[in-house]
Amino acid sequence: MTDRLAGKIALVFGAGCIEDEWGNGNATAVAYAREGARVVCVDVNFASAERTVGLIVEAGGEGIAIRADVTSHAEISAAVAQTVAHFGRIDILHNNVGTNAPGGPVEMSEVEWDRVFDVNVKSIFWTCKEVLPIMQAQGGGSIINVSSIVSITWTGHPMISYHASKAAVNQFTRAVAMQYAAQGIRCNAILPGFIETPRVKRHVLPFFHGNIEKMRESRSRSVPQKRLGSPWDIAHAAVYLASDEASYVTGLIMPVDGGLSCSAPHDQG
Ligand SMILES: NC(=O)c1ccc[n+]([C@@H]2O[C@H](COP(=O)([O-])OP(=O)(O)OC[C@H]3O[C@@H](n4cnc5c(N)ncnc54)[C@H](O)[C@@H]3O)[C@@H](O)[C@H]2O)c1
Repeated sequence: MTDRLAGKIALVFGAGCIEDEWGNGNATAVAYAREGARVVCVDVNFASAERTVGLIVEAGGEGIAIRADVTSHAEISAAVAQTVAHFGRIDILHNNVGTNAPGGPVEMSEVEWDRVFDVNVKSIFWTCKEVLPIMQAQGGGSIINVSSIVSITWTGHPMISYHASKAAVNQFTRAVAMQYAAQGIRCNAILPGFIETPRVKRHVLPFFHGNIEKMRESRSRSVPQKRLGSPWDIAHAAVYLASDEASYVTGLIMPVDGGLSCSAPHDQG
């Protein structure tokens, strides 16, 4: 444990993982704790949030678990109130929850479109509505929104609500960054590329008949660094953005993708 985030309180929405493995949310929560932050782990699945707190304690850190659904303003509001009651402040707001649905505008239902926007965009509207006044009163804070490279590039599959909602997350991030820049509140977005998380494995492995090596080989081919990312690549970027090392960094839309978003499809030779 080092102390890049010593004394800070981090509130992480989506701090669990859909399997008992590492995803972007639990890796980030643990990375924050390893750097000295005390971490509030919020998840719709309470057992998963508790598992992350267990990992934090194992790493020598401190955290609490809260159950809340990010599509509910009331539940977000209660989670924020509980955080302040327990720790007295919020220095880092990390919005990790995201969802996806297949299809373009013709195939997708209105219900699916709305569900994806509620989870990916409205949730951040609610968390920021609750946390910004607290950060304002404190004189600063760092907000990190987890977007995706699909917000700025095409990755081969139509997922219109995912593309559009993550693009909305990017501009939400930049607008909040500008509105609050002079008040010491920073707001940045991380755009994960092809990260090997349980959620991705659950959705993508069936296309490769469960053969994980085949999946890795195929998905890595289009990545300039020729590998998939790990949840720790996302967690380490988040630690930097949350820390005072990034005190002059705001409004950044930061791909963490092995170069994928820079690269046009080309003959591999
Ligand atoms: N894995 C990738 O390759 C990849 C790529 C680009 C972007 N992302 C983004 O990274 C983020 C996290 O991805 P992941 O694969 O680690 O996530 P994940 O699916 O494992 O989800 C993390 C946690 O969020 C919780 N959650 C889901 N819905 C919730 C809700 N309504 N309220 C509260 N908690 C909820 C889940 O229970 C889970 O514990 C998402 O925003 C996703 O869009 C991932």
